[in-house]
Amino acid sequence: MSAAEETCDVDFSFAEEQDFQQVLNICSSDDYNGMDYMAATFHRWLQEPGRLNFIARMKDRVVALESALLVDGGQTVVFQGLRVVPDLRGRGIAGALQRHVTAYIRRHYPEVSAVRRSRGDQPSPQVLAKYRLIAKEVILSLCCEATNLGVFIAELQSRLSCQADSAPGSPVTLTQQQAETLILTDHVISNLLPGKTIIVDWEPLKPVEANLEVLRRRGLMWIADREFEPTALSLGTAPYSVPYRHDALRININIFGRSLASVCAVFLAQLEALLPTVRGFLILYTYVDPAVWPGLRQFCQNNANVSPFRDYWEELILETDL
Ligand SMILES: CC(C)(COP(=O)(O)OP(=O)(O)OC[C@H]1O[C@@H](n2cnc3c(N)ncnc32)[C@H](O)[C@@H]1OP(=O)(O)O)[C@@H](O)C(=O)NCCC(=O)NCCS
Repeated sequence: MSAAEETCDVDFSFAEEQDFQQVLNICSSDDYNGMDYMAATFHRWLQEPGRLNFIARMKDRVVALESALLVDGGQTVVFQGLRVVPDLRGRGIAGALQRHVTAYIRRHYPEVSAVRRSRGDQPSPQVLAKYRLIAKEVILSLCCEATNLGVFIAELQSRLSCQADSAPGSPVTLTQQQAETLILTDHVISNLLPGKTIIVDWEPLKPVEANLEVLRRRGLMWIADREFEPTALSLGTAPYSVPYRHDALRININIFGRSLASVCAVFLAQLEALLPTVRGFLILYTYVDPAVWPGLRQFCQNNANVSPFRDYWEELILETDL
């Protein structure tokens, strides 16, 4: 069957609870480097206000998914989770699903004027030409047994105290209310947020009142180097299971700011906050400004059996008009 005939045989609908297992089966254990978040997010995504979860079916088989979250007070849609079953990739199914989702949003949400998505796969110049580049972060990924985290933290603590003249005072854990106040300040928006965008894991949001509810739902750990006019602001997601290993937990820490000493200090504080609860095998994704990535990587060199998971890896935040 030709690719064109195949995409004609695809039906689109909204995902439901009973599709869970088939949706999980779309990706192989190698996709997303074993870090697929779908098992952790699918049920939450079905319940989330302002989110539409589209699936493509061929006969009775779920072959693709894309999720769309309405943000910025309904002006923007963030596309997430795009995936196609391995045996049908490269035949236009992702393209057909994206066209269906876009057409649906245009028809049912005429106030949406922009589409935002993040890409970690180094899109070609031709693909990039279709978008505005809003922000770029680089990911420092580390992995270890949870039992080694304490030793790693102790090493980083002693390294940070040796750099005491450049290091700031103790970082502060922010309440949700403090974090919300801070992320709407001109200081944070203009000086810390990349492209004036707050990024939670791979989810890019404008720092506007209407998105605070979305951030609240994510149950984040907010830590800054100081409460007022910080030079580094970080958020950590709760750990979630991923297919990489039966006991693997993925943890995401987004850090905004270009002061290396402050970025290192809040990174360490995020690890200290995790330490009492984590078990098993940990994979830590830390998203930072490209300028601080080499310094943070150096700061994380250790004798505690904490290893790099992937090398230099960019996350691009892209936007286009709908
Ligand atoms: C990426 C993936 C969805 C592409 O599926 P596919 O059916 O082979 O893709 P198609 O044959 O339709 O051709 C590529 C289309 O998908 C789009 N695409 C490819 N990778 C993409 C990505 N990471 N994000 C968004 N769009 C992507 C291309 O722009 C193209 O669209 P067009 O037809 O409008 O030009 C598929 O390879 C996959 O499921 N990979 C594993 C999961 C994954 O890495 N997902 C991307 C992360 S969000």
